[in-house]
Amino acid sequence: TIVDIRARQIFDSRGKPTIEVDVKTGDGVSKAIDNVHQIIGPSLVAQKFNVRDQQKIDDWLLSLDARLGANALLGVSLAVAIAGSRADHIAKLAGTSTLTLPLPAFNIINGGAHAGNIIPFQEFMIIPTAINVGDEGGFAPNIRSVYDCLDLIMEAIKKSGYLEHVKIGLDVAASGTPFSYMLMENSWRNYTPILLGNILVTRCNLAQYVVCSIEDAFDQDDFDSWTLLSSMLEIQIVGDDLTVTNPKRIKEAISRRACNALLLKVNQIGTLSESISAALMAKSASWNVMVSHRSGETEDTFIADLAVGLDAGQIKSGATCRSERLAKYNRLLR
Ligand code: PGA
Ligand code: ZN
Repeated sequence: TIVDIRARQIFDSRGKPTIEVDVKTGDGVSKAIDNVHQIIGPSLVAQKFNVRDQQKIDDWLLSLDARLGANALLGVSLAVAIAGSRADHIAKLAGTSTLTLPLPAFNIINGGAHAGNIIPFQEFMIIPTAINVGDEGGFAPNIRSVYDCLDLIMEAIKKSGYLEHVKIGLDVAASGTPFSYMLMENSWRNYTPILLGNILVTRCNLAQYVVCSIEDAFDQDDFDSWTLLSSMLEIQIVGDDLTVTNPKRIKEAISRRACNALLLKVNQIGTLSESISAALMAKSASWNVMVSHRSGETEDTFIADLAVGLDAGQIKSGATCRSERLAKYNRLLR
């Protein structure tokens, strides 16, 4: 027998809203479910345990009448472990006092080394700044000029009616594609930091293109160019290849004022603790932190919890049209 039905909106791998329905059946385990709902649940809530006190909660569960059923007790015990872990656990480790859902940067056009086309920048992202709280799944058309990409995105934002609420983020990935330095418009020329800076300053200030964030505009070792660009722009300048989530490189970038935001990739540094230190180091320099996926990904959703637990404020997990990217956004919705 069906005992309960719950539904929520999630997104399918094409980015379209779809419905997820949980059907709870009473078959076989209906007694255990009843026990959780009617007996264990209410009395556990009344105990006012801290969810992280697993041992205390488990001891309390074990002291209950054994006739409530091992399945019911185990289910509650594991659910407590899951509820008390991930975002909460990370927050405890990182000493974060507030938790926020991160602002997502959705990739919509792919170029560079990941796309096999001729667009010089790796990622064009839309960032829905109004909310308070190739490989990356972007389309990969053959468009020569980055301005044509920006024009297309601007047109889409305008058509959607969200011009007031969405801005554009770029990942140039200049280290990955040396020709990012050159192919800005239809002409092949060498873009110096001053030239690139001027172009971006003009475009940003005129609000012609609402670019609010630019990542890896120059090669990872071209610190002078980074510093110059950072001094010219008042937008978010994100270090990815520049800093590689490595405390040493973050320190250097801080002292040289090379950027004002850290792209945080857990598997670049190794352990969770090191990732937390990297995030805290960036925050202590008043940098922003954007938790990031990798171009090669699985359906694992840990980084969604990481972004919340660190109170990072931002996450980029690609487009909404590849399930391994979407899984992270859906995890945030849940
Ligand atoms: P990577 O790039 O995972 O290939 O380093 C992704 C990104 O730059 O965001
Ligand atoms: Zn990058």
